[in-house]
Amino acid sequence: MNHLHFVDKYGSFTMDKPENVSYLYFPLASETGLKSSLTPNLGGDAKIDQETFLLEPVSAENLHSNRGVRNFWLVDEDGQAFSVSGASARQEADRFTPAQDDSRLTAGLMWQTVERTAQDLGLDTEVTAFCPRQDNVEILCITVRNQQEQPRWLTPIAAVPLYGRSADNIRDHRNVTSMLHRIWTTENGVMVRPTMSFDERGHRPNHKVYYVEGFGPEGQKPEAFYPTVESFLGEGGTYLHPRAVYEQYPGGKAGSRAEGREAMGAFRFPAITLAPGQQAHYVLLLGVEDSEEAVNAIWDKYHSWEQVQAALDETRSYWKEKVNVSFRTGDPDFDNLMKWVCFQPFLRRLFGCSFLPHHDYGRGGRGWRDLWQDCLSLLLMEPGDVGRMIEKNFGGVRIDGTNATIIGAGDGNFIADRNGIARVWMDHALWPQMTTKLYIDQTGDVEILNRQAPYFKDAQAVRGTQIDAEYQPEQGGWQRTSQGEVYTGTILEHLLIEQLAAFYEVGEHNICRLRGADWNDALDMAAERGESVAFTCAYAGNLRELAGMIRLLEKTTGSKTTQVLEELLVLCGDQTETFDDARAKQTILTQYAARCAHQISGKRVEVCLSDLADSLEQKADWLTGWLRKHEWICAGTAEGWYNSYYDNHGRAVEGIFPEGVRMMLTGQVFAIMGGVATDQQIRRITASADHYLYRREIGGYRLNTDFHEQKFDLGRMFGFAYGEKENGAVFSHMAVMYANALYRRGFVQEGWKALKTLADTALDFDTSRIYPGIPEYFRADGRGMYHYLTGAASWYMMTMITQVFGVRGEAGDLLLQPKLTAAQFDAEGSASVHVTFAGRRLEIRCQNPGRLEYGQYRVQKVLCGDAELCAGSCDSVIIPRRVIEALPAEQKQVFTVYLG
Ligand code: G1P
Repeated sequence: MNHLHFVDKYGSFTMDKPENVSYLYFPLASETGLKSSLTPNLGGDAKIDQETFLLEPVSAENLHSNRGVRNFWLVDEDGQAFSVSGASARQEADRFTPAQDDSRLTAGLMWQTVERTAQDLGLDTEVTAFCPRQDNVEILCITVRNQQEQPRWLTPIAAVPLYGRSADNIRDHRNVTSMLHRIWTTENGVMVRPTMSFDERGHRPNHKVYYVEGFGPEGQKPEAFYPTVESFLGEGGTYLHPRAVYEQYPGGKAGSRAEGREAMGAFRFPAITLAPGQQAHYVLLLGVEDSEEAVNAIWDKYHSWEQVQAALDETRSYWKEKVNVSFRTGDPDFDNLMKWVCFQPFLRRLFGCSFLPHHDYGRGGRGWRDLWQDCLSLLLMEPGDVGRMIEKNFGGVRIDGTNATIIGAGDGNFIADRNGIARVWMDHALWPQMTTKLYIDQTGDVEILNRQAPYFKDAQAVRGTQIDAEYQPEQGGWQRTSQGEVYTGTILEHLLIEQLAAFYEVGEHNICRLRGADWNDALDMAAERGESVAFTCAYAGNLRELAGMIRLLEKTTGSKTTQVLEELLVLCGDQTETFDDARAKQTILTQYAARCAHQISGKRVEVCLSDLADSLEQKADWLTGWLRKHEWICAGTAEGWYNSYYDNHGRAVEGIFPEGVRMMLTGQVFAIMGGVATDQQIRRITASADHYLYRREIGGYRLNTDFHEQKFDLGRMFGFAYGEKENGAVFSHMAVMYANALYRRGFVQEGWKALKTLADTALDFDTSRIYPGIPEYFRADGRGMYHYLTGAASWYMMTMITQVFGVRGEAGDLLLQPKLTAAQFDAEGSASVHVTFAGRRLEIRCQNPGRLEYGQYRVQKVLCGDAELCAGSCDSVIIPRRVIEALPAEQKQVFTVYLG
């Protein structure tokens, strides 16, 4: 099988014969919008957004076809053709023949190189692809080397099909939209500007220019052009056997035009003669700009080999710098894997949740959860701007505690939902608070709770159950008072509204209603009677943590009160007698939401912070008791777990059924994280999870057991084959959150088992068949799916730093509480992590010379450089923020934590 191995400590890796593995793709992107995916054969697409695809959109299943690859042909004097991309009919046919052409892929953060040897032509070739961060251009650097004893005569031909339109036109008017194409050749390449953006709801004039340009040695220009697919393939030709290449079509000149055909970025360079050992460089530039002038400006920046190599170096170092978290444990492969995991949150921010071959859904953009989870990783890597980003994001919360779900470009831009009654995801209120909590801990800026933010307003009212008929789009996207003014409230108020509304929105079992779905988007068929026990547990945890944040605010600022919207008082009250009564709770919520359906009073009332905290704790305690009493499933003396859901018939979903055991991981994760499960219950949960959900070979903890039923009363997930995506795959995000929850509760070995199994499977290339990184999930046979874009990456990184290494902020101070297992230390008993904290680059080195197991060691002393900060045996150490802020910011600071 193909083996993948790392070649440095920055995650760069290499593998032979990459094209012999299916579904491989690699992401490249600029920070200005261009997003590409590349297969080992240089297939895959490139786009700015849904409307602006430079190369034809591909899904995973199109990756095999080698149709739209970025091709570069070399033709020798006998007419033998070789594709530097490996995409010719001959090379495809010979792929599996041993001793045929060699190929090797090497890649690192935002660059990919493929080398190919053409045995019979005696040539070595190499293509490096990258996107400079500041320009929307994909650059291919091609090197051809003569490996023979005699000179070689070769004709190079570039060939990249230019799609140049909206992804929607792949099926909707594919042919009609080619009639819009206006194509012209310049001395550098081929350009196409469609006359309009074709959309029957309203056609718009188009200005975008899509292009492929290129140059050869010493800036040599192409000499002939094949600007349409037809002129390049020839009648009956194919992409793997284009007649222009095999039959040496003469082609057209620079300055020619073509119209109404599929465009082709194809051109031929003058033939060259390579002496033995001699090499020649070619460069292709692929991109899209708003005008021809802008294309020329790109050309000016990248029209020589030296400029392009400098840009490549800059791109590589930029991303290496950017991913400024690194780990050193006893396992270098794991440490390299973590480089990719830490890089993935950047990819998620650039690509959104669409735009890689498996992610062939959505029209770009990110969802509400991603918005907040991306901040988690940012807080650990580039905390600078996150506070402002968080404040802006709170502007997406509606006054009824639901939130905008269409997220625009730029921070704090939310788009109104005009499509009738919108879906409400009942977990959405959870994530803003988790992120705000981490923010306060890492920065100490608890006063963020006092900062003001507006509330989002659109036609959705009463928690997505009604349309506000009085609302007109002209009133704008902010909640107004009855005086017509835009209302703002503190971030604390936003959090209170979100958590409290969740607390009161219960179904018949007095558990939070499932509504449209929760984290598991595929639980989408139980909107009426479904309830999510899993996220009720999560809210119990959140209510308790919010109380803690309020107490911290009081302590830090010395202020005793805060102002909240008058209407909110009804949710803050301590009507403990109503808690047991699901209907009474719903009534309270409806009263509140109905009062806020269109406008609000705008009146603020003063409430006492400690009373607020008390009342939240009371609710958390009540919830904990209720959940323990009603939702625990006892399965013998050693096993047991929490029921996670009620279906649309109002039936508990989990337990021991005639069809078998039904257990879901989600309920366990949040029962543990939210402090609902007792330590004794956690022991039984982990035993059950190991028994029913764990499969070491495919990544570890599956999301659920096989229900052997298509539950139309719960969600589409049960329509998926078992082991696929939300139905029983090892879904990385939930598996990582399971680990995180276990660590938080001190179950270190159990947590590490979950993390390590994911990492081992990802790194086991023969099983996962993915480049390094954490995929969204491992399917039933262990293949890694939906690679790169997953919230799991942020959580994995966060768990490694804040739990495994135990390096985290606590109200702004630095807490060191290592929870490393013996095997995580290297042979010298050392393990370290590089992080940024309080504006300082820190290396935290844990020294465990005896390689003691977690539980057997304690922190003996901590040194900063040579200075002893503290000594004495303890479980954790707090280093005050001011101590860290007093250290010089320029150089890295090393903290050594001695364990013994
Ligand atoms: C994806 C979605 C996420 C959803 C999850 C489960 O997860 O993006 O919002 O909660 O599926 O349905 P990801 O792995 O991308 O974070």
